[in-house]
Amino acid sequence: MNFTPFLGNVWMPTSASTVSDDTDMIFYFIHYLSAFFFAAIVAATIYFALKYKKRGENDKTSPLEHNSKLEFWWSFIPGLLLVVMFVWGFDQWLKLQVPPANAMNVRVTARQWSWQFDYPKDGITTGELVVPVNTPVKLTMSSSDVIHSFFVPEFRVKKDVLPNRYTVAWFEATEPGEYNVFCTEYCGKDHSRMITRVQVKSAADFEAWRETGGVPPGTSPAEAGKIFYKSFGCNQCHSDDGSGNTGPTFLGLYGKTETLSDGSQLPVDDNYIRESIEIPGAKVVQGFQPRMPSFKGKIKDKQMIALIEFMKTLSK
Ligand code: CUA
Repeated sequence: MNFTPFLGNVWMPTSASTVSDDTDMIFYFIHYLSAFFFAAIVAATIYFALKYKKRGENDKTSPLEHNSKLEFWWSFIPGLLLVVMFVWGFDQWLKLQVPPANAMNVRVTARQWSWQFDYPKDGITTGELVVPVNTPVKLTMSSSDVIHSFFVPEFRVKKDVLPNRYTVAWFEATEPGEYNVFCTEYCGKDHSRMITRVQVKSAADFEAWRETGGVPPGTSPAEAGKIFYKSFGCNQCHSDDGSGNTGPTFLGLYGKTETLSDGSQLPVDDNYIRESIEIPGAKVVQGFQPRMPSFKGKIKDKQMIALIEFMKTLSK
């Protein structure tokens, strides 16, 4: 799990997309307008309650029935403000709904409990979203099990991810950096751990990432494996420090004798690891559920070797 702790306060998180400032503006407009009217109405209620309260037995109720002029204005002004909120909100909603025609396409797959990002043009699959700065990115999202929801607070982008249809979201990041991606639809036991990151890179850095699939030239296989361990999202279910999770930890896994769900035992070697990555349901470790998706066709031979080399370093 990659997660930058967010120490919240009463204000909005940092603004890092082209829509976030406008979205905040309308939010604050409605927020402060509501706060103003709440305070004004409470103050008026208290004032009139005190002013017209019954003073003694013979105090009479006022003969006034109504005031047409006052009633018109106190309906017309809030009505007008409602129309402003609606037109402004609808306009902003449309901006959030319609991705620009030149947007870069990324496919998002949500599942219990990880995120997968596919770059169809480049044949790259990752567990962290990597995008260039100042470029519109269109996300076509689906779920392979239950309903999830894609949320990047800094971008003010949040959209449900459904199992039976595609949903679309888009954003254009304005600041390079790393931001949290949260699941915001309760989706089972590890919902709160269904967190990954979006890395916003400069155009040159993004090109370099795309060329090498995220691995800088000159990286050793074991180091590259560590990068793939994160970029494929293995780390979302398999820890590298022995801690328990949805899948077995990688610490000390390579070379040990594993007990499977049918009670049989086998050594964890290259063939077993390869099979588990391509056909995860073939041999399930005792005490775990067959939850892992297949990476067959998504992981290249070199990446497979690098991952195994990385796992070896965790068994020394
Ligand atoms: Cu996925 Cu909550």
